[in-house]
Amino acid sequence: MQKTILTGLRPTGNLHLGHYFGAAQNWVKLQDEYDFYLEIADIQALTDNFDNPDKVRKNVHEIAIDLLSIGINPSSVHMFIQSMIPEIAELTVIYSNLVTMSRLYRNPTVKSEIAQKKALFGHHGESVTYGFVGYPVSQAADITAFNGNLVPVGEDQLPLIEQCREIVRKFNSIYGETLVEPEPLLSKAARVKGLDGNEKMGKSLGNAIFLADSDEEIAQKIMGAITDPNKIRKDDPANPEVCMVYYYHKLIGNKNLETVCEECKHGKRGCVACKKELILKMQEFLKPIHEKRAYYETHPEEVDAILLEGTEAARTKAKETMAKVRQSVKIDYFD
Ligand code: TRP
Ligand code: SF4
Repeated sequence: MQKTILTGLRPTGNLHLGHYFGAAQNWVKLQDEYDFYLEIADIQALTDNFDNPDKVRKNVHEIAIDLLSIGINPSSVHMFIQSMIPEIAELTVIYSNLVTMSRLYRNPTVKSEIAQKKALFGHHGESVTYGFVGYPVSQAADITAFNGNLVPVGEDQLPLIEQCREIVRKFNSIYGETLVEPEPLLSKAARVKGLDGNEKMGKSLGNAIFLADSDEEIAQKIMGAITDPNKIRKDDPANPEVCMVYYYHKLIGNKNLETVCEECKHGKRGCVACKKELILKMQEFLKPIHEKRAYYETHPEEVDAILLEGTEAARTKAKETMAKVRQSVKIDYFD
């Protein structure tokens, strides 16, 4: 039997190179080998954007276009909208009895997200909602609703998969074997660094190149990227290993990489020329993605149809799981 993959992302902004190289590129590679459910997690996005529904609404469509533009094939992948699968909400309520508050607060991902909020908003960070602390339970519902065997994620999501596995084991031990225990499928790509040299590229960090950035935006951002700070003059020898420009030459697979490295080390290349080369290569790299994006931007009805079809397929599968769960929990009254 073909294995089932489930993964998801929050529609809070456009995809950037960090998402692409950290995870999404891998999804494209996996899409033909598995029964693949790709969730646009709008309900999860609302857990910390409940006061900004317009943002989430707009980004559902944007993320769908981003995913199609990088080559997610709607005839192999069921791309769907979380809020349109009410069974996920039902499962969340049932699973919420199987998780203690202290276990949720101990979840390392939740813990670090709460710490980030406190750092950003000061004492307002204290007002963490029930929905936010509980989102690992809702994510366990996402995964199990489709009997996901494998969950391709980045390292930061591992504690959420572990919590899902605990819920599954507890459910099965109380109500009988019903749910499939999922395994994480770690993407090999490490984190992608930001233009500023930060270990992580992120929208809120202001150091990201988005897949949808225009050629002008790409040029402007790369001109501002961090290079070797010890290189003052054009012909100073420098160390490419500490330079973000070199890092991105490597990331996007510039075939001229050896030359860039050697010339940099021997003071035979100026940073401005080096950045200009990267700008051209980056624009070339993103060109096919931009072309697809332009197509879908002018055919929004096609994007809607893809989402609707993916959601219907997902709903069918989630209903099957829900029927089994109702039976196991003995709430299958008039079935
Ligand atoms: N929490 C994930 C993130 O922030 C997104 C997500 C939602 C997800 N549901 C999922 C990931 C189910 C894997 C499986 O990136
Ligand atoms: Fe970086 Fe290129 Fe300048 Fe070397 S020459 S420091 S690789 S921008």
